[in-house]
Amino acid sequence: MPDRDDVMAELRLMPIWRLRARADRRSRSAFDVEPESARAEVSTTASDTETRAARIATLEWRDFATDVDTCVACSLCRGRRKSVPGVGDQNAQWLFVGEAPGSEEDARGEPFVGQAGRLLDNMLAALGLSRRSNVYIANVQKCRPPGNRTPEPAEVEACRPYLDRQIALIRPQLIVALGRSAATTLLGYDATIAALRGRVHRYRDVPLIVTYHPAYLLRTLPDKAKAWEDLLLARRTLRSIEQGAA
Ligand code: URA
Repeated sequence: MPDRDDVMAELRLMPIWRLRARADRRSRSAFDVEPESARAEVSTTASDTETRAARIATLEWRDFATDVDTCVACSLCRGRRKSVPGVGDQNAQWLFVGEAPGSEEDARGEPFVGQAGRLLDNMLAALGLSRRSNVYIANVQKCRPPGNRTPEPAEVEACRPYLDRQIALIRPQLIVALGRSAATTLLGYDATIAALRGRVHRYRDVPLIVTYHPAYLLRTLPDKAKAWEDLLLARRTLRSIEQGAA
C-alpha cells in the first residue's frame, strides 16, 4: 500500500498545492451581467426537444463544435464567451467528463484549463496519459453557468444530447466521471461520490469509473489518495478490456 507521500509524488503534487486566495474559486464576475447582445433563447415543446435530440444524435465531428457554439437551447447561451465542446483525441480509449466550464474555460473554449485542469493534467500524467493522445475531455455542460453555479436540471437535459453524441462518436473504452454532476448525469440517478466510487458502473455498455472532481481535490487533500485508487481501478479495468476479460 503506497503511503500518502508516494501518492502525492505519483500525482506530481509535491510540494502540496495550495489554493491562492480566491484563485479559481467559483466567484461572481462581470459574467453575471447579461450582455447587450443577449442571444434569443428558444422556447421549446416536447416535440421540439425530441427533434433537436434526434438531429444532434446524427451530428458528425465536422459540424459538432459549430452546432454547440450556436446552441440556444438553454439560458447559459446568454452569458457564454466561448462554448466549450471538448478537447482531445476523437478516437480515444479514455473519456474524462467534468461538470461545466469555468471562467478560464469560457475564455479559451477548452475544458479544464484552470487550476483544476492543471491537476487533471497531473492525474493524466501519473497514468502516462496526456490530453493530446488517447484521451478526450468533455463536460456535461458546454457553456459556463453564471458565477460557476451548479447547472440546473433543465440545463443538463438541454446539453445532454451533445454529451451522448460525443460518446457515440468517440466510442471510448472507458469513461471516468469527474465529480457528482458528471456521475449522476451519466448514470441517470443521484448518489454521492463516496457511494459510487470503487466499482465499475456502465454508461450504456461502456465501463464507467467515478471519482472526485479535481476542483474538490484541490480543497480536500486527503481524498487525493482515493482519487489515485480510482484511477488505478480505471487503468486495471481498461487493461482487462484490452485482454478481453471485461
Ligand atoms: N470544471 C469542470 O468541471 N470543467 C471544466 O472544464 C473546468 C472546471
